[in-house]
Amino acid sequence: MATAKKTEDTTKAVPRLGPYPTKIGGEELLELLDLWQFTPETKRQITELVRADRQLQGPHLFRYYNPRPSKVEAAEKAMSGLIGVKHCLAVNSCTSALVCAYRALGIGAGDEVIVPAYTFFATAATVVASNAIPVIVDVDDSLCLDPAAVEKAITKRTKAIVPVHMRGAPAGMDGILDVAQRKGLPVVEDVAQSGGGSFHGKRLGSLGTLGCFSFDYYKIHASGEGGFVTTNDEWLYTRAQSWHDTAACWRPDRFGRERQPGELFCGENYRMSELQGAVALAQIRKTDAMLAGYRRAHRRIKEAIEPAAGLTFRRVSDEAGDTCICLILFLKDADTTPKAMHAMQAQGVPAGGIYDQKVRDWHIYAYWDHILEKKHAAPDGLPWSAVPESELPRYSKEMCPRTLDLLSRAIMVDVHWQYSDEDCDNIALGINRALKEVT
Ligand SMILES: Cc1ncc(COP(=O)(O)O)c(C=O)c1O
Repeated sequence: MATAKKTEDTTKAVPRLGPYPTKIGGEELLELLDLWQFTPETKRQITELVRADRQLQGPHLFRYYNPRPSKVEAAEKAMSGLIGVKHCLAVNSCTSALVCAYRALGIGAGDEVIVPAYTFFATAATVVASNAIPVIVDVDDSLCLDPAAVEKAITKRTKAIVPVHMRGAPAGMDGILDVAQRKGLPVVEDVAQSGGGSFHGKRLGSLGTLGCFSFDYYKIHASGEGGFVTTNDEWLYTRAQSWHDTAACWRPDRFGRERQPGELFCGENYRMSELQGAVALAQIRKTDAMLAGYRRAHRRIKEAIEPAAGLTFRRVSDEAGDTCICLILFLKDADTTPKAMHAMQAQGVPAGGIYDQKVRDWHIYAYWDHILEKKHAAPDGLPWSAVPESELPRYSKEMCPRTLDLLSRAIMVDVHWQYSDEDCDNIALGINRALKEVT
């Protein structure tokens, strides 16, 4: 078994161990070929090469203690550079990133966090998972948090404001940062749906105290699962690391005592693996090419849409910073909207409604039963039991009527960065025909 000509100490019961074949080697790499759906011929050729390679050391898929440069670390560096922040932490999802951000800020039982009524459920669910209470606030015609509604919702318990850059477009960060600064509150940007977008020249995720990104399948950048936390604050970065890897592999001295009070506490395991890191790194490099494609297609479709009675577009707080992954139209009322959407679909347009009262959807607060009904995981009743009943938010399906009105009149048209000019023209033609039919 031991083939190396190394001198062995034969006085020991175990003179040497190994070398053994690498634990993760060619077979695992070949499984990836299946995922990538290479043609049988390519697969055959690569399989031959991989099986013939006797030198294969096997990838090391754990980001820490890695004998070769870590892909996750490279992705973090690329992401810090892209977003323009000092610190970036890779995690395994945006849900994890949000928990890290809340925990880094010290948010916990009895605290309130302001979230929009229109966002994927995770923005609010992670507040509950952090034992705090989400305060759900109306969006405005940008479909992002309304700064005036945020100001009204602030109480003595408020510990953070979470604007979500929804459906590719930046939230009105000037209004939100103004309220936050006046009230002395941190801002956690949820950038899950708008990676690479910007607001007045600054990339989203660099304007607030912390930014949270998703690299799941549906997002602009995708690595299957994945996420990042961005910040310019070194202490918050340290605490986010502490939560994301309670095994403390991230620390320069893993088993050392804490360097400052508040550095070490019991967290979770949200580490990103090298597999995700490698894919994320390549995705980050593609950002500008993807955004250029989305923007070109979006502009071409939008410019070709003809005026129609009652038709308006979603207001975008900074048009230049829109990632342009979709085009959102508002129609005059909630009756015309589904008719127009079906007419568009009949024309082959990739259009969908946003709020259909018959279809449950985790993006709309009215369906967040777990929160509206104050559900809890354990008999301690947290987070709701941390606050006197009379001081808890009054949740109801109707509590954000403006959001429901806007969403019930909205149609979302998907934009793809690889649409050809002809695809764009056909989509615009389909929209025009549909609008003529119903308005
Ligand atoms: C606005 C928003 N926040 C958070 C998330 C959660 O992201 P992930 O799937 O990476 O946990 C999503 C995903 O859909 C999202 O759209």
